[in-house]
Amino acid sequence: MKLEEMFATRADRLKASEIRELLKLLDQPDIISFAGGIPDPALFPAEAFQAAYAKALDPQHQAKALQYSVSEGYLPLREWLVDHMAGIGVPCDVDNVLITSGSQQALDYLGKLMLSPGDTALVNWPTYLGALAAFNAYEPRFDRLDLGVNHDVSDYADRAEVAGGRVKFAYLSADFSNPTGETVDAAGRARLIDMAEELDCAIIEDGAYQALRYDGDAIQPILAMELAQKGDLEACRTIYCGSFSKTLSPGLRVGWIVAAKPVISKLVLMKQAADLHSPTINQMAIHGVAEACFEAHVSNLRAAYCARRDAMLAALSDHMPEGVDWTRPEGGMFVWITLPKGMDGARLLDRAIREERVAFVPGGAFFADGSGTNTIRLSFSNSDAAAIGEGVSRLGAVLRRALSD
Ligand SMILES: Cc1ncc(COP(=O)(O)O)c(C=O)c1O
Repeated sequence: MKLEEMFATRADRLKASEIRELLKLLDQPDIISFAGGIPDPALFPAEAFQAAYAKALDPQHQAKALQYSVSEGYLPLREWLVDHMAGIGVPCDVDNVLITSGSQQALDYLGKLMLSPGDTALVNWPTYLGALAAFNAYEPRFDRLDLGVNHDVSDYADRAEVAGGRVKFAYLSADFSNPTGETVDAAGRARLIDMAEELDCAIIEDGAYQALRYDGDAIQPILAMELAQKGDLEACRTIYCGSFSKTLSPGLRVGWIVAAKPVISKLVLMKQAADLHSPTINQMAIHGVAEACFEAHVSNLRAAYCARRDAMLAALSDHMPEGVDWTRPEGGMFVWITLPKGMDGARLLDRAIREERVAFVPGGAFFADGSGTNTIRLSFSNSDAAAIGEGVSRLGAVLRRALSD
């Protein structure tokens, strides 16, 4: 018997990345790793979580915490999010908010909700690998999202039609994107809204890093801009995905979606079918911690990560050879490096681990068409300034050798 023959065609698209084997080595203590785009565990608000879990499990709350619950999510958390969203320019009702198990689940559900095989998803080249993986299971084709002024939007529609579907959405992380750390300016966001109007498609705005701005002025979320134009969330085509993973903790798996009510109602049915609801006790704990210290905690995080970002940018200036370029992010966790043409990020990783005990993520995997092999992603969030200085200096050394070979 071959169970593999029972797999649906979409399973063919689920492929393990080749770099996973290399990345397994990263637990070794002498390796300086800029690979994982993860928060520093030393900065988790652990005491606040202890108090919040103790409260959720006290005699007054335990029945609720441990029982089945509604698919929409824990009401006090949704109410907290209504205030939070109003604070970033998106006034909404609790009925516009669905709690998900991380924003990764939101991306999976939105792919499931919108993509029929052969439909088109517009994504940045490069874009968040997890979004490509989530959407990929629903058998779309990807086209390159270009917010340049001279770009003819009807080309997208034409190509989508030739492929036998239509453009269903544009997905992007407008603030400090994973992997490049770059931010889309207000003009680019406005262009995207116009483009979506012209194509009559949705916008999926991934706000995973939105709260982690270190300098420069905050730019309104795309949903806030669209809402300001239209005056009614129910008329908006932007769907906002948020996450507590980068601010409070990724381990609890709590994220959210804000969208027009018909979208939320359908997603609630999808959630019922998939996992009934996200764990109530985790939603209660996130709510407790968010109420107790969200702003103060995020402000500490910003100070800590800003210092690391600065250390990485300074070290790159000191150690990168001629011909290497990098982004200067105003927030988030990543710096994106473009190597000289012809240099391969995956081969460089192999060599960097063996020769210099330093690691990063090769950039090719973030491109839907497999291009961009001469790029790499460095994360500065999980290393202190001294390790960042040392790691970037090691990277400079291996790069210099690779360039002279
Ligand atoms: C851009 C972006 N979106 C979404 C996610 C998923 O995060 P979570 O499911 O933990 O909310 C990540 C995680 O790294 C990310 O970088």
